[in-house]
Amino acid sequence: MNFAASFLSVSFLAIATALVLPVEVSADDKGKAMRHGRMKKMTCAGCHGMTGNGAKRDGQLVAPAYGDSVILKTNPEMLALIILKGISSEGSNYSGAMNGLEKIYNDHDLASVMTFVRNRWGGHDDYITDEQAAAWRAKYADRTTPVTQAELEESRKSASP
Ligand code: HEC
Repeated sequence: MNFAASFLSVSFLAIATALVLPVEVSADDKGKAMRHGRMKKMTCAGCHGMTGNGAKRDGQLVAPAYGDSVILKTNPEMLALIILKGISSEGSNYSGAMNGLEKIYNDHDLASVMTFVRNRWGGHDDYITDEQAAAWRAKYADRTTPVTQAELEESRKSASP
């Protein structure tokens, strides 16, 4: 095989591998995402608490503890939607309301914060890519309303942790 042919087959292999394993990343990439995500999750800490147990105001939980979140353990798309659009406080048990962060987080911020919270509190050992974050943002680009309690409930029910 001449050089050009072997180069071509190697690149073909690389592309094929990338297609089959879209979330295959180096430990280095994951480490970077975790560090960036740890910083970005400070935005969440005001309500969910520095240790993820839920901040309290006047003895009442502002937001749920991550450890109690079925969504965090299961459904990354729903998690992305919640972070992008927020959650309606109607019928909520918490004193805070979660606003969408789509204008504050770029795709890398979203992917990193998702990677961090899912690994730290969701029992996952995975990595959310910037491409996945971008795809979810695009999919819900036209949506202007927060996630409703009914949607949250539906997502919890259909989840299989
Ligand atoms: C201003 C306060 C606030 C901020 C900031 C905030 N949240 Fe929330 N979040 C809430 C409240 C309140 C709820 C509960 C909504 C409900 O159940 O009615 C919630 C719900 C959630 C849920 C769903 C929990 C479940 O029931 O499964 C997840 C996951 C979540 N937040 C993650 C995050 C992440 C990650 C960030 C930062 C990127 C963040 N939140 C920022 C207030 C906040």
